[in-house]
Amino acid sequence: MASFEKDGLKNVFIVALGVCLVCSVVVSGIAVALKPQQQLNKALDQKQNILRAAGMLPGDSLVAEDGRGVDELFSEFEVRVVDLETGEFLDDIDADTFDPVKAAKKPDLSIPLSGEQDIATLRRRENASLVYIKRVEGEIDKLVLPVRGYGLWGTLFGYLALDSDLQTISGLGFYQHKETPGLGGEVDNPRWKALWPGVQLYDADNQPNVQLVKTRSAAGSASAAYEVDALSGATFTTRGVQNLVNFWTGDLGFGPFIARLKAQA
Ligand SMILES: Cc1cc2nc3c(=O)[nH]c(=O)nc-3n(C[C@H](O)[C@H](O)[C@H](O)COP(=O)(O)O)c2cc1C
Repeated sequence: MASFEKDGLKNVFIVALGVCLVCSVVVSGIAVALKPQQQLNKALDQKQNILRAAGMLPGDSLVAEDGRGVDELFSEFEVRVVDLETGEFLDDIDADTFDPVKAAKKPDLSIPLSGEQDIATLRRRENASLVYIKRVEGEIDKLVLPVRGYGLWGTLFGYLALDSDLQTISGLGFYQHKETPGLGGEVDNPRWKALWPGVQLYDADNQPNVQLVKTRSAAGSASAAYEVDALSGATFTTRGVQNLVNFWTGDLGFGPFIARLKAQA
């Protein structure tokens, strides 16, 4: 009888292949099984970011002061797709699955931006985006907009929230960026984020005019209302944040949509 050569090259390969196969089946099985949970967690995280920008979730808390949780608070928002050029709602696109960032990469769903237009360094801008609207008795109470733009090391992704007048900033928060902790990463510092509520957006010519400054104008002056402190030691990130806020609220961003809402008010 031929003896079984346990250490033979062929058998070592067969065992190694078997182990690899079992492991890959287990790992892909787990990945597939966890996917729905990952998607739920991602959606929950986005809801939290939107609520925090709107000032509806304090600090790191997962519940509002009145005890309501993320899902309940977020259910007050209407999520709509808007045509950025016309400012009109687009009801033929499903807001639950539409991804503006992915759309910006597709030539048929986006437009190229010229150097002069592209102050947020996006290269392309999607034709449609999402808006999150909270109404109280039919009137707009909060409007939250997805915003993004280049800092020093990469693109910052976040949400900008406006108050009911669509002129006063309610909050700004970033959920993804590559800026350096302690420098540009201070965009996440709660003390800096607390400087945003109350800042005015549009100037007398109806152009977004947020200014991130090293030295503030005299309190009460016309320009002071548009100012937020720059991040110290992070001029590039600071400029990036100023530019992305002004881009996304301007004519090439949500400007036409905001103008349309104001006209309806
Ligand atoms: C390791 C390292 C990380 C940096 N990270 C940032 C950053 O996240 N954001 C930024 O604007 N500048 C960053 N910088 C650039 C410098 O801080 C740069 O000098 C600064 O932006 C100039 O700002 P100031 O005019 O306020 O001094 C970094 C520099 C180094 C060496």
